[in-house]
Parts: sequence; C-alpha cells; structure tokens
Amino acid sequence: MERIQIFASADYEVLIGNDLLDRAGDHIADALKMQSGFETTTAVIVSDDNVFPLYGDRLKKSLNDKGFRTIEFVFPHGEKSKSLATYGELLEFMCESKVKRSDMIVALGGGVVGDLSGFAAASYQRGITFIQIPTTLLAAVDSSVGGKTAVDLKSGKNQVGAFYQPRLVLCDIDTLKTLPKEEYECGCGEIIKYAILESEEFFDELLEKPVSEQYEHVIATCVNIKKHYVENDEFDTGLRMKLNLGHTFGHAVETCSEYTILHGQAVAMGMAAITKAASEMGLCSKETAVRVLELLDRYELPQTISFGLQEMYEAMLVDKKNNGTVTNLIVPSAIGNCRIMKIPTEKLKGWLAEGGVED
Ligand code: NAD
Ligand code: GLY
Repeated sequence: MERIQIFASADYEVLIGNDLLDRAGDHIADALKMQSGFETTTAVIVSDDNVFPLYGDRLKKSLNDKGFRTIEFVFPHGEKSKSLATYGELLEFMCESKVKRSDMIVALGGGVVGDLSGFAAASYQRGITFIQIPTTLLAAVDSSVGGKTAVDLKSGKNQVGAFYQPRLVLCDIDTLKTLPKEEYECGCGEIIKYAILESEEFFDELLEKPVSEQYEHVIATCVNIKKHYVENDEFDTGLRMKLNLGHTFGHAVETCSEYTILHGQAVAMGMAAITKAASEMGLCSKETAVRVLELLDRYELPQTISFGLQEMYEAMLVDKKNNGTVTNLIVPSAIGNCRIMKIPTEKLKGWLAEGGVED
C-alpha cells in the first residue's frame, strides 16, 4: 500500500492499495482521532446509482462494524447530477436526518460524487468532515485530492464551489476492476496530463506498460505530482493553474456537447489541440506534438474537436480561467515541461484554429 501525506490548510493522508474498502471503518476512525473534541456518530454515504449497488454494502458494513450509524444518499449517475438541485436535495436530506456538525460525509464514487458531496460537506452547517473514496481512475489520480469541490450551473461547469480538503482519501484499486472501458480511458487522459506537465520518464512508462497493469504505481505518481501543486498553491492563483493543461479547451468541449462528451475525453481533445497549436506556433517541437498524439492514441483517446470556432469561443468565455480580458493557457514546451501563458481573449480563436478547430 502507498501512503502519501498532503500538507495543506488541513493535512491528510491518501492511501492507495488493495482491499481498503472493507477496512474503511478502521482507516476513517484512525483519521478522525486527530480531530479533538468531536464525536462523529453518523456517516452520510453519498454515491451514485452505479457505484452504490456495487460497493455500498461493503462500505456500510465496514463503517457499522466500527460503530458508525450510516445513512445513504444515492443519486442518478452522470455530470447532469452535479447540479444545484442535487446539492440542495442532499443538504435537505442531511438536515431532515438530523446530521450534526460533528458528523461526516463519505463520498463513494467518481469525480461527480466527490465534487458534489465535497461542496455539501464544505457548506453544511459551515463545514463537516469529508472523506473521499474514489472509485474511478480519474477521481483516484485527480479529483479526490486537493480540495476543489463544486457543482455546475446551466451556464458553465464548476461555477459554484469551495476549496475544502478531505480528512482522508481511501483509494481501493480493486474497485477499478468494474470501471467501464471509456471511464478507464478518461482516467488515462488525466494521467497523461501529469506526464506532459512533469515527467518524461513517467510519459515513457505509460507508453511501455498499460496503466491497468501498474495502477498503484501510476496513481501514487500522479498523487505525488498533484501534492506538489496543491502544497505550493492550494488556492489556485499561480502554479496550480498548470493542472488545467487541456482543460481550457476541454471544458468548452464539455459545455458545447452538453456533457455528452466525458471530462477525460474532452481533456484529451484539449491537450491534443493545445499541443498542436504550440507546435504550429513554434512553442514546442513537432516531435513533442507527435509523441503526445501517439500516447493519446495508445489509450484510445479522441484528439479532434468537432465543434465550430465560434461555439467553442463562446463556451470559453464563461470559464473561470478567463477574467474577461485574459485567459491563462497552459502550453507544452516539451514533454515534462509546460508554461502558463496569458492570452488576450480576442486571440483565443487564433489558438483554437492552430489547434485544428475549424470555422
Ligand atoms: P463520474 O463520477 O461521473 O464517474 C463516471 C462513471 O463511472 C459514472 O457513470 C459512475 O457511475 C461510474 N463509476 C464510478 N466508479 C465506478 C466503478 N468503480 N465501477 C463501475 N462504474 C463506476 O466521472 P469522473 O470521470 O470520475 O469525474 C468527472 C468529474 O470530476 C467532472 O465533474 C469533473 O469536473 C470533476 N473533476 C474534478 C476535479 C477536482 O479537482 N475536483 C478534477 C478533475 C475532474
Ligand atoms: N484538477 C485541477 C486541480 O485540482 O487544480
């Protein structure tokens, strides 16, 4: 098992390994011991209708065996549920179930479950304990660590949220066995992002051996990279913005597709487009672009944005990374090295065009 400590506004551990779900109660009780003066009696398990039937009973048993009362809030899977409506229902449910400030939310699921329940944990009675149990590869390597929580508005993704660190992240890699193929590929999209950002060696490892044959190593490598960004810029005002590689175009793709294109697929398209644009503009070598496209291809990730220039541009205007006049674009210089470039908003169309987006 890998054990990684994150030092942020609240410190916590990320545990990565096999058989963690059945011992969740023990691990959570250990993590709560560090919280003085509070007695946590109720665990609100938040999950979706795919994940809960697969893993809910085991989590409940493990928590009940440790003496926690469990109640569950299960919502329909998918990005459409990451909404103010579901968030409101969860808060009402907790209030009606007499959940106290000393109780906790345990998120069992992917990034949708984690982001939504993290925001509920951040705001319910001004903040209650939050535990992340990621069950998608994407959530394991990215969304469960670092404290970004949010829900979407109709006009844009993640427009309402809070920075709120979990008390513990438990990543049981056995749960990834039931992940649908395209969700596995989406997680690989975020993993490739870390390699392009930080490590040519890791990039080569991903080419040489499939992620699924080295889960523990790959997840730990990504969490360690993310740890560095979160510890140095928890509130995303500088360095951490680099984690948005591929996301500026990717979020626009998600919005244009009305969330029918999955996050990891959209990020892959965004990374392909920004790398193509960088290579066209002489900001990275042609070989860098070829290698990025080759790795995306290896993991069967899409590389072409089929929405038009104007539609993509309008979707980008509501992104948080755009302050009205300037957008921070994360641009690869080489494999393992990217820079933040401040691009005047009116130039974004030019970047999209160089990245292969057609009129
Ligand atoms: P998701 O939570 O929708 O999960 C994807 C699908 O897989 C769902 O249908 C889910 O029911 C199913 N699933 C989950 N675990 C499973 C398992 N073990 N077996 C079978 N099916 C399983 O999507 P996601 O890709 O995990 O997360 C995407 C979300 O994460 C987006 O909303 C994105 O904005 C957010 N995100 C947040 C951060 C952050 O830092 N907070 C980072 C990246 C992405
Ligand atoms: N997923 C981007 C971040 O955590 O900053």
